[in-house]
Amino acid sequence: MTTSDRYLAFANSAVGSRLANALGLPRPVPLERMPCVDNTDAMADARAMPVSLAVVGGAGDAPLLPDLARELHRLGMPSLAHAERLDWISLANQAGTMSGRFNPSEGVRPKALLFDASAIASTDDLSTLYTFFHDTLACLDRCARVLVLGVPPTLASTPQASVAQRALEGFVRSLAKELKRGATAQLLYVSPQARASLHSTLRFFLSPRAAYVSGQAITLQAPVFEPPPIQDRRPLAGQVAVVTGAARGIGEAIATVLAHDGAHVVCVDIAAAQGPLDAVASRLEGSALTCDIAAPEAGAALLAHLAKQAPHGLDILVHNAGITRDKTLVRMSEAQWQSVLDINVGAPQRLNQALLDAGVLRANSRIVGVASISGIAGNRGQTNYAASKAAVIGMVEAWSPVLAERQISINAVAPGFIETQMTAAVPFAIREAGRRMNSLGQGGQPVDVAQAIAWLAHPASGALTGQVVRVCGQSLLGA
Ligand code: NAI
Repeated sequence: MTTSDRYLAFANSAVGSRLANALGLPRPVPLERMPCVDNTDAMADARAMPVSLAVVGGAGDAPLLPDLARELHRLGMPSLAHAERLDWISLANQAGTMSGRFNPSEGVRPKALLFDASAIASTDDLSTLYTFFHDTLACLDRCARVLVLGVPPTLASTPQASVAQRALEGFVRSLAKELKRGATAQLLYVSPQARASLHSTLRFFLSPRAAYVSGQAITLQAPVFEPPPIQDRRPLAGQVAVVTGAARGIGEAIATVLAHDGAHVVCVDIAAAQGPLDAVASRLEGSALTCDIAAPEAGAALLAHLAKQAPHGLDILVHNAGITRDKTLVRMSEAQWQSVLDINVGAPQRLNQALLDAGVLRANSRIVGVASISGIAGNRGQTNYAASKAAVIGMVEAWSPVLAERQISINAVAPGFIETQMTAAVPFAIREAGRRMNSLGQGGQPVDVAQAIAWLAHPASGALTGQVVRVCGQSLLGA
């Protein structure tokens, strides 16, 4: 729970909850999250494992069931079959996961609902969604996860199937808005070549790592690199990551989570942040590079640092550094316009080019940009910032096919309202609106953005490229 979100704390106190109920005020629940720890805390990892129950259903011959059963088994998540899919029990039992039939009247509280919608071939078949969720939703545990799996509409076998698969998006986004008590819902479009690449995505979404992500449609496509053997404890061991803007806020959390996952993190920030930057790098046993990413010599400085710290090449590059210089366009100076565009999107493009030209990005490496929901929805007083963040999304879209040929993925996260020094400076009324105007009724934490980036950076996440994942609690902005 955030210390600065006093209403969240109050609404969950004994007196506050009674008052909130009596007055009909919203009661956001404290979300279950992974703590942001830098050492390998076995307890923290254990808490993050999705050990409680999943209920699994599906339409038609549910072709993804064997893949789901295998991954639930790997994740140690027991499951029950929805009554309509009793035929699944024997199949899934072979993977040692499914132990019986789900009966809503038995008082069991599932932590996850998974529905394989990939065989839905017409809008008539969509009624299978209705039946499954109508029976199960009311039983959900707090902070539960709903996952619907489909096929990308462009890859569906007939126009009718494509139409029905497209319908899943509206269904899941609406369901996410109806969920209560910190639960979230996502749609995973799984291309046929990505069926062996579900692991890292299920590991993320079926755990507290994905606390503040909801209402997203994610596509898994042919992986840029065949998934390596699964290694969930310290999955980034032996890897090198660069995080820009790592001295504080979201960047510090990203560096912390990547280091926790085993990476050597090169922490980059400006000279004015030298003190906190050194402290972060030394706490994480990484290295610090003071560098203004917008300076003409930034690429050369980073390459020189990597030549010493990462002679075998770079695995993860996170473009987190960013600034705001908010003013309505008429009042905005040219310098305010220019600096935001240059730091937020000019510099990341130049750094990418420098690293690509030098050939230091290894096979199966990752580039992750940090966009913003401002770049999707637009925001008054942020023409410069929103343009730069929309351009980060454009960078991901334009470069993903080019980089896939070099076995590199590129994705972005688009945070909503995250509790940092940047948002603490926002005037109270706007801050309060930003916090509450989402399906979870609260702001996110830096660790929420960091965990989403760690998922995209996972060595088994090569089926994710060209994606923009909002970490915004399903904010109403740009929805
Ligand atoms: P912050 O202002 O707390 O931290 C940004 C860091 O980047 C600072 O340490 C700063 O010194 C560094 N930095 C700035 N310019 C730099 C440069 N030229 N070279 C190297 N380092 C530089 O910001 P916060 O909140 O942690 O945001 C991180 C990223 O997340 C930014 O890209 C921001 O636009 C994005 N974001 C933040 C949201 C929020 O609610 N806090 C929402 C949406 C996006």
